[in-house]
Amino acid sequence: MKQIIGVSIKTRKIEPAACKTDMLVVGHCSDAKRLDAVARELDRKLGGALRRLLELGDFKGKPKTQALLYGEGKIGARRVLLVGLGEKKKITCDTIRKAAATAAHKAVGMKLKGIALALHRSVGARIKEADLGKAMAEGAYFGSYRYDEFVTKADDGRLGTLKVEIVDPRQASVKALNQGVREGAVVGRAQSYARTIANRPANVINPPTLARAARDMARGQKTLSCTVFDKKKLEAAKMGGILAVGAGSRSEPRLIVLKHTPTKKPATDAPAVALVGKAVTFDSGGISIKPSQDMDQMKLDKSGGIAVLATMKAVAELDLPLSVWGLIPSAENLPSATSYRPGDIVTTYSGKTVEVLNTDAEGRMILCDALAYAAGQKREVIIDVATLTGACMVALGSHKAGLMSNNDDLRAKLQRAAEESGENVWHLPSGDEYAEEMKSKIADLRNIGGRYGGACTAAAFLRQFVGDTTWAHLDIAGMDIFQKGNEYAAPGSTGFGVRLLTTYLVNLVNKN
Ligand code: BES
Ligand code: ZN
Ligand code: ZN
Repeated sequence: MKQIIGVSIKTRKIEPAACKTDMLVVGHCSDAKRLDAVARELDRKLGGALRRLLELGDFKGKPKTQALLYGEGKIGARRVLLVGLGEKKKITCDTIRKAAATAAHKAVGMKLKGIALALHRSVGARIKEADLGKAMAEGAYFGSYRYDEFVTKADDGRLGTLKVEIVDPRQASVKALNQGVREGAVVGRAQSYARTIANRPANVINPPTLARAARDMARGQKTLSCTVFDKKKLEAAKMGGILAVGAGSRSEPRLIVLKHTPTKKPATDAPAVALVGKAVTFDSGGISIKPSQDMDQMKLDKSGGIAVLATMKAVAELDLPLSVWGLIPSAENLPSATSYRPGDIVTTYSGKTVEVLNTDAEGRMILCDALAYAAGQKREVIIDVATLTGACMVALGSHKAGLMSNNDDLRAKLQRAAEESGENVWHLPSGDEYAEEMKSKIADLRNIGGRYGGACTAAAFLRQFVGDTTWAHLDIAGMDIFQKGNEYAAPGSTGFGVRLLTTYLVNLVNKN
């Protein structure tokens, strides 16, 4: 894979004011009465430039604001970027992650070669330094990312690498930060990998080429195995849901199975986990075709599966002492002479029959086979991730993913992981009332419910394929894409889910 923007990230023991860099990045809180230690030292060396800027009121430290100053040979740095952090008591890891991302995004836009981050100095002892190091590393990857794989102009001056340093003069702090940076770099890299695969269009990534990408990824990891169910194997296994959705495309469907077997034996009470991700490489709706407006965005309907793929990469690189499987059912949903149709009755892997009333409700058709497979293979915790319903977008917008579960402990763990990772979720129901709507008169289930509560009825459908297994569902429709881009992110795939799932798994190991 062509590396789009390479990021190198390291900690360095140095006084921020002394650090030679293209841009030194410092935080400032909107409620700060005076400059904090780092800014004060810079201000002194720059002859009061920071204080004058604040006094003029041009920069107040509010979230989403920044101010740029020049070093003018008086400090090591060529430039100083002040990043607004908002109210000090409201700072979380995500504030720092986003601030680092903002700085990295700006640096790439300005074609700088290196930046030095001292953002953690504005937080105080409330948040652990390792966590701040992790957040800055993740943010540096996140903000510097942009997708230009298919831009052929060779001379547009895009830079190949960004060197990021996290600077602190105190040895103990450097050590603590560094612990977090190592983990954050793994997660950040995995998330950028996810964004690139997801951003690739459907004429490049289809189920077979996605399976190949998964194989390539797994080949680079000692702890990962990758097996792929092709059409023949799917037929032999009677995975009728995946086969039905894939029937309309010349690119045949696949089920990708990744298994992480850690070097260190997992703790005996650690659950065997399966992550299941929807990878519809293009969702035209099929015979129940979608309107053409924004249909191009349906290349991102593989985002859940790719979040699982990239999480498996991070799990392997961290060599987490857990048994984790990644199951990625993949199909292309197209209308053709061979497509599945409204009215069809499909026998799924579980044996349950489904009356298809809308071919655009295809995500649940492929997920149900993978969920039943995971449950049958005695996985103890199953989490699925899918761009499943427009209804979830209507309910939550593009700030939080829907979270449904049959287990309060798993729900709580995912809510906590969401807070820590900055990939937010909101709990929604999926119980019996909703399942009732999914009953068919001529089959066991139908694939759509009534007009309302579509995210919940979809989850209630999925829930019926895991039996008694502890299960959660993340509906990430609307979370998969940045429509426009913003101060810290390029437009396109968000890589949502990689940080959330990795954090959940890391917490299982650390049990704190
Ligand atoms: N992939 C879509 C859901 C989606 C919509 C994701 C918009 C991201 C943005 C899914 O396959 C779908 O089409 N769902 C239907 C279900 C309906 C037919 C019951 C929907 O939400 O309209
Ligand atoms: Zn659909
Ligand atoms: Zn879909």
